[in-house]
Amino acid sequence: MKALIIYKSKTGFTKWYAEFIAKEVDGNLMDFKEVTAEIMSGYDVVVYGGGLYAGMINGYKKAKEMFEKSSANRFILFATGGTPNEATKEIEEVWKNNLSAEELQAIPHFYMQGGICYEKMSFSNRTIMKMMSKVLDKKKDKDSTEEGFAQAIKSSYDITSSEYAKPLIKCLLEGIQHRH
Ligand SMILES: Cc1cc2nc3c(=O)[nH]c(=O)nc-3n(C[C@H](O)[C@H](O)[C@H](O)COP(=O)(O)O)c2cc1C
Repeated sequence: MKALIIYKSKTGFTKWYAEFIAKEVDGNLMDFKEVTAEIMSGYDVVVYGGGLYAGMINGYKKAKEMFEKSSANRFILFATGGTPNEATKEIEEVWKNNLSAEELQAIPHFYMQGGICYEKMSFSNRTIMKMMSKVLDKKKDKDSTEEGFAQAIKSSYDITSSEYAKPLIKCLLEGIQHRH
């Protein structure tokens, strides 16, 4: 049975990973805008991906609610962000802030590093990022995390790699094999 891979993506990073996953597992790919609970019900597994915006996973709550209304069996979550995958402590915080203790146990969740794309950003988000960049630049006594962040958000960068999608793909395929 096919998996449904859903993305909500403002600047393309999450979409890129969703496309890769859908191709690797021969799943169907959809923009969250087009998805309904009825559509989800046509699948055994639903994968949802969203970008991190101020620490929150874009669209996760709505997608989870929709999944609960549907008759699909499994929900797998991924998030993309500007934070590199090595920043495991920061990523742990993201999961804790977005998922309940119960969800942390029940929902397989994966982080995939993306980047920053000023060219595709909305005007308001570009303004926010530029302001943050200025404030951080001026701040004295930055700790190493702040220093790294200040450097990182100065301009666009892309640190996506299919490597980071592999753990999710493995989880997805193992689940399918166990069922048959
Ligand atoms: C306003 C704004 C806030 C962001 N906040 C975070 C954040 O809290 N943590 C993070 O790792 N990345 C953050 N990012 C970077 C995005 O999460 C990253 O570009 C992500 O891959 C975007 O995915 P999308 O293009 O699919 O929407 C932020 C970007 C913008 C524009």
